[in-house]
Formats: sequence, structure tokens, C-alpha cells
Amino acid sequence: MPDIRIYPTAALAARAIAGQIVDLCDDAINARGRFTLALSGGSTPEQLYRLLATDEFASRIDWENVHLFWGDERCVPPSHADSNYHTARMALIDHVPVTLSHVHRIHGELPPELAAVQYEQDLRAFFGRREGASGARFDLVLLGMGDDGHTASLFPGGEELAITNRWVVASHPTSVQHARVTLTPTALNEAQRAFFFVSGESKAPALARAVVPPASEDDMLPVHYIQPVSGAARWYIDAAAARVYTAEQVAKAES
Ligand code: 6PG
Repeated sequence: MPDIRIYPTAALAARAIAGQIVDLCDDAINARGRFTLALSGGSTPEQLYRLLATDEFASRIDWENVHLFWGDERCVPPSHADSNYHTARMALIDHVPVTLSHVHRIHGELPPELAAVQYEQDLRAFFGRREGASGARFDLVLLGMGDDGHTASLFPGGEELAITNRWVVASHPTSVQHARVTLTPTALNEAQRAFFFVSGESKAPALARAVVPPASEDDMLPVHYIQPVSGAARWYIDAAAARVYTAEQVAKAES
């Protein structure tokens, strides 16, 4: 069963995630000398990145041993307002002493397929080609969810969902403005931990489906493909996004 944490507001959910990142970072650096964190894109995590940049949290993170990655990127230049790298740079990277060579961005300015091949090469070089390694063993992957249940840049009906022999692919969803580069479920599911951060009323219908097992393969949302081999993903959601889910759970409990 998924691990679901509901908070009154997105700000409180962000604080809970930030506290977890401090702890996971400490554990990873103590155990392996580094913390590998894959950031999510979109607007929801921006408040989390800003919080991590505050002295309250930044002072508790050993930034010299943190490596930042992305779960996906829009195929735009790194200075473009729609770039997930740009969002994280403005909210976090420019405000903390992370080593710039430890910031492993997806080169969205390249043709999508080339950017995907290059990022996969970067990941395989960084994580090594361990025998049988099916994905990148990030210590933590942060993920969001769209109103349609997409995550990273894995969209409903996308062929990317079924690709198992690649860690990174280009995707060309018709529902969004830009072509994308995304980690595949195979790569994402190798992560030690995966946290979803979902907020807002518009996510409530998809969330109510996302947090229960799909009734059939046709009922699967992209988020259902995120099944980390190391254990269930954890969902940090605000009350607005949980509206439908909690109502259904309350009704079921009362029936
Ligand atoms: C992206 C993200 C994407 C995002 C969802 C939610 O590049 O857009 O990786 O998966 O997490 O679309 O986006 P919001 O947080 O903006 O609602």
C-alpha cells in the first residue's frame, strides 16, 4: 500500500519533505559519502526548493557532498522560464553552496533524442554499469503529478511507459507545449526512495485513483508505474488534493 501523508497546506507538506531530505542526506553521506537527489519539475516543488535554501534547512545539509539530478526536463534552453533546471536554479541552486560540477542537468537545449542519450550516458557513468542495474540508484527521487496522472514526463498512453531497456528517453506529449526528456519507470524504480509531492484541488480526481491499485491495466495512470524496488513511494499531499480521496475513504469507512 502507498504511504500517504496528508497536510492542511502545501507549505506544511513541503516542510515535512524538507525535514526528510535533511535526514536522508545525513544517512546517505554517512553511509556512502554522497547524497544523490533527483528533482522534479513543474511549479509545486518550487516552494520546497525555496525552503531548502533557507538557513533553517540549508545549514543542516552537507551541500559539498550533494549531487542534484532531474527526473525530467522540458526541451528548452537552461535559461528558459519553463526549464525545470531554471526553476531549481532560481529557487535553490543559486542560494546554496552546492558544487556546480555536482549539478547534473538534462541538456534541454539539445535535440530531445540526443539530450536523452547524453543524460543516460551521464547517469550510467555516474552510477556505474553495475551488473543487472536496471536503473539509476538515486537516494531520493522527488516526483509530482499532473491533473491527468502523469509524472516526470511520462504521460497517459505514452510509449515511454513500456520502455524497459533505457533509463532516459525523449517524449513528445501532445498535451503540453514542449518536447520532453524523461527518466523511464525502469530507471525511476531503482531509486532507494521516491516521494510524490502533490497539491491543489485540480489534482484531487487523479490522486483518488493514484493512491489505490488500478482495477485493470487500462485503468493504470503513469504514476502507477512508479513502484520502487526498494519500497512503496511516499505521497505528501495537501488537503485540497486529498479532497476526493479522503471523502471516498470516509464514505467507505462509514459503509
Ligand atoms: C514537469 C514535471 C511534471 C510535474 C507535474 C505537476 O516537468 O512538468 O516533472 O511531472 O511534476 O506536471 O506539475 P505542477 O507541480 O506544476 O502541477
